[in-house]
Parts: sequence; structure tokens; C-alpha cells
Amino acid sequence: MRNYDLVFLKKFSMVIGFLSVVTIALILAALYLNGVLPAERDPAMNRITEQRIAPQGAVYAGQTGAAQQAAAAAAAAAAAASQVAYGGTTDGSVIFGQLCAGCHGSGAGGAPTLDRAHWAARLPKGTDTLHKHAIEGFTGTAGVMPAKGGNPALTDEQVIATVDWMLANLK
Ligand code: HEC
Repeated sequence: MRNYDLVFLKKFSMVIGFLSVVTIALILAALYLNGVLPAERDPAMNRITEQRIAPQGAVYAGQTGAAQQAAAAAAAAAAAASQVAYGGTTDGSVIFGQLCAGCHGSGAGGAPTLDRAHWAARLPKGTDTLHKHAIEGFTGTAGVMPAKGGNPALTDEQVIATVDWMLANLK
């Protein structure tokens, strides 16, 4: 072989070697970037997701959604309040007026009214017993007292407060 052929081969293999290194570096860089960048989502999937979250998304869509947001908040508050009778009040007069007075106002079904005479035989039982009978219900000689006046959504505290209010307002 002539001398300048050897020189050419040497340079040529150096260039090939350098290009191979560049190729491998590019492949590795591409693999790395592919792992780092977020995967592109199928536009059809995006459409389906948007449709699915539209009801909630609309509520928070700025000014246009303000009305729905207020309506949703009001609905949530109403749902929460309906879990607790009369908004959870322990004001006996409110609960008595709205529920117990149905029987205890008129004496319907033998219910004792707020007339002190109707309570002469009941007061000696003790307040605890009267609380218990109002919460659990009571059937005596006069008639049937339904548990919690027939509204199981009342808490024990609400019933107790109402009985106390009744006893404090006997005439
Ligand atoms: C469906 C009618 C009715 C409603 C509603 C009702 N009661 Fe009565 N309640 C009665 C009757 C009837 C009696 C008398 C039972 C008896 O002594 O035979 C009575 C008795 C009672 C007594 C006396 C229990 C005893 O041991 O003597 C208390 C206290 C009482 N009710 C509290 C309440 C309270 C508080 C409410 C509302 C949360 C209420 N009631 C709602 C019908 C009712």
C-alpha cells in the first residue's frame, strides 16, 4: 500500500469513529428527552375528559360560573341543614312550635298541653324520665307519645331542650 492511502484510511476511520460517537450520543439524548417530556395525549381522550368534568368545571368558570357556584353552595348548605332538624337549634320554643305543638298545643290524642294541671302526675316522675320518654317515646294511659315527637332527625339534645322549655312554660 502506498503511504498516502494509509494516511487516508487513518483519517477516514477517525471520521467514522467520531460520527459513531455522535450518533450514539444523539440516541441517548433522544431516549432521555423522551422519558422527560410529558407524553402527548390523544385528542379524543382530551375531549372525553372535558365532557366528563364539564359539570364541575362550569361551576368554577370565573364570572360566568359565579351563579352556579352560589347555587351549588346554597344546595350544599340546604343538604347539610336537612340532616339536622330545624337547623340544629336547641331553642325549645322553635321546636315546640313547629313540631310538638301539633299535639301538645291542642291536647290532640290525649297529649298534655302546657296547662300545669296536665303535668301534676307527670312532674313527679322526674325530669330525666320525662326527657327519656320524649326521646324514646312513651305510651301511657292518655295516649301515644311518638319517639322524638315523630321526627328522628332531632338530636337528643334538641328534644331535651324542648322538654325543658315546655316545663319552664307551664301555666
Ligand atoms: C303525635 C302527637 C305528639 C307529638 C307530635 C308530640 N307528643 Fe309528646 N305526648 C303525646 C301524648 C299523647 C303524650 C301522653 C302520653 C301518655 O301519657 O299516655 C305525650 C307526652 C309527652 C311527655 C310526657 C311524658 C311522660 O312521661 O309523661 C313529654 C315530655 C312530651 N310528650 C314531649 C314532647 C316533645 C318534646 C315533643 C316534640 C319534640 C312531643 N312531645 C311531640 C303526643 C305527642
